Amino acid sequence: MEEKQHFLIVSFPAQGHINPSLQLAKRLARLSARVTFSTSIEYNSRLNTSSSPPTLSFSPYSQGKYDKSFKLPDLDPSDLLTELASAGIKSLTAIANELAASGSPVTCVIFNFLVPWARDVAADLAVPAVLYWIQAAALFRVYHLFFNGHAEKIINIATQEKPTSEIALPGVPTLQVRDLPSLLLKKLTVDELFFPAVEATFQGLSRVVLVNTFDGLEKSTLTAAGEAELVAIGPALPSAYTDGEDEEDKAIGGDLQRAEDEYMAWLSAQKEGSVVYVSFGSHSVLPVSEREEISKALRESGRPYLWVARGEREGVEEGEKGRVVEWCSQVEVLASGAVGCFVTHCGWNSTLESVVCGVPMVGLPQWTDQMANCRLVEAEWGVGVRAEKAEKAELSRCIELVMGEGEGEDMRRRAKALASLARDAFREGGSSDRNLRAFVRSPMGGLT
Ligand code: UDX
Repeated sequence: MEEKQHFLIVSFPAQGHINPSLQLAKRLARLSARVTFSTSIEYNSRLNTSSSPPTLSFSPYSQGKYDKSFKLPDLDPSDLLTELASAGIKSLTAIANELAASGSPVTCVIFNFLVPWARDVAADLAVPAVLYWIQAAALFRVYHLFFNGHAEKIINIATQEKPTSEIALPGVPTLQVRDLPSLLLKKLTVDELFFPAVEATFQGLSRVVLVNTFDGLEKSTLTAAGEAELVAIGPALPSAYTDGEDEEDKAIGGDLQRAEDEYMAWLSAQKEGSVVYVSFGSHSVLPVSEREEISKALRESGRPYLWVARGEREGVEEGEKGRVVEWCSQVEVLASGAVGCFVTHCGWNSTLESVVCGVPMVGLPQWTDQMANCRLVEAEWGVGVRAEKAEKAELSRCIELVMGEGEGEDMRRRAKALASLARDAFREGGSSDRNLRAFVRSPMGGLT
């Protein structure tokens, strides 16, 4: 590592983006690079920065009039990303200038999708701008194909074929039509809102793209011929759960909400592999009718459960065997040993966290990349099952399949094997560690 190397990591202000970005920042800082982490002012003030190495510092950017309120339901969709980009560029440029004036100029900008304007700041500084893809490599390939000549084909298939028809795209595991990212098909208002920023992310891509995955998980996609070189550096989780180098390093980082206290004591009193953990990430809220169905399935299973029900409690039953919380420290829960099944929306962070902890999944994907992630879980890795509907009978079938004998035992065995591959990739000398070190030593890593 060159002493003068200085990474500026720029993250969109959302839990699912900040978590893997902050983990990368810590990792780079541990390699003794200087790292500055930048997200919005509001989210920066809520970061859990414990266990941050001394060479990591925080300089939030402004998102103009959205500095005070950035809750998706409050947004003016047509305005948000424009304001974010114009205020963000000015603010990030000022940050970079200050760092240069203090004698530590930025040598490489790393940004995740939805903040493609970070690339303009890097261009002004004449330093490399590297995309950090925080979803599966398979999804990167789908988007890349879409924005490079295959859009018409993909849209035609999506609109003309049955949802369960298989779709073969080069370098991508076989997906079903329904697994295609909803952002590309602009199925929801939020999909339309985010589409231009995703499109901009894929314009002027750097040759090297860092990806939060690992070689053993998505080998065929990572090695498939393509214009961009995908460099797997994940899973981006705290050290305590991956390489074990720093047992104190447990904070996922972007704990944007406060976890309640009591549930870990309850969890540790449960038998190994006995608990069903239910959570749908930081954004999705299921309709009341679906929450009621989940409640019925959990009650019927007779198993203890921990359910993260943010905000809306109607239809969420605690019962005798359940615990319902507003928020928890998810990685800690998954790593506790008590969880035998994760009922999840298959957000990429949740999926990777479950993989690292060896916990099989029941998928109830909601939007964006989650359907494809669920497909990987079920069809590629065999560590979970997709619930076809959020209905009691189907949910009961899936929970019993995952936690029961027979197929469930095979899933648990595969989940444990995958977890061990994940840790091997991340620890010193493992594939992700080697990949990250090689990137840092390359001109793309800002080595001058
Ligand atoms: C979204 C998309 O769903 C995801 O697919 C995309 O890649 C990033 O943006 P989100 O819906 O929040 O993210 O899901 P996910 O990617 O799973 O991230 C949620 C994060 O919040 C995880 O790191 C999880 O550990 C954390 N979390 C969630 C908690 O720490 N506690 C909780 O109670 C719930």
